[in-house]
Amino acid sequence: MSVDFVFIDSGKGGIPYMRRLLEICPAAECVYVGDSKNFPYGEKSKQEIVNLVTELCQKIIQRFDPKAIIVACNTMSVNALDELREAFPDVKFVGTVPAIKLASSLSQRRKIGLIASNSTVHNDYNQKLQQEFANDCTIISRGDTELISFIEKKAYSANKQDILDACKNAADFFAKSDVDVVVLGCTHFLNIKEEIQEAFGPDIKVVDSVDGVVKHALQVVDIDFFKQPVNPVVIMTDKNDL
Ligand code: DGL
Repeated sequence: MSVDFVFIDSGKGGIPYMRRLLEICPAAECVYVGDSKNFPYGEKSKQEIVNLVTELCQKIIQRFDPKAIIVACNTMSVNALDELREAFPDVKFVGTVPAIKLASSLSQRRKIGLIASNSTVHNDYNQKLQQEFANDCTIISRGDTELISFIEKKAYSANKQDILDACKNAADFFAKSDVDVVVLGCTHFLNIKEEIQEAFGPDIKVVDSVDGVVKHALQVVDIDFFKQPVNPVVIMTDKNDL
């Protein structure tokens, strides 16, 4: 079996990324693998993340022979993208990193918020992004494992008010910090982007990396746009074996 794309994440974070790609290109053959058995990645060391994601990709490559692996997880990308490219030189990888460049182009106050996993907010990669694209900005970061876990475990069955309540601590945090743009630096947040924007209010613009990642994915793989669409295969490692 050979597919166009395999999307990977620690759970449900990459699903909005795959959905967006399929909206643009319904003919793309996609597989989704959420490593929910090892969720949350954001509380693990770099070495643990590298080991887990390398093992995951090894199995994915053997089983699905993808044209590209979309690492739809900031935590996996900032910790392990270089190592993955080195371990599997014949495979194309598309990573997901916080949209600091986009935030910098929008911030009037030159104060940007970043909400992500603890591992991502402490990763040096952010310093590099800031130096390159937002040198004159202050970045206020918040690692929010609680909200990420809520999304993984509860958001799909929660009502709107529960989701808005879950966003309240983060909304209060950024309201106090005077930022005018907040970057969603964890793909899980895309599952509740509308509620996050509503909770943060009209003075804060919430931005993400979905469009950039999907565009890049469609550039690296040649899709036969006339193929009959097929439903994506979805695997969650706490329920299905890879
Ligand atoms: N979805 C992942 C990300 O984009 C993080 C979730 C986790 O901590 O496992 O960083």
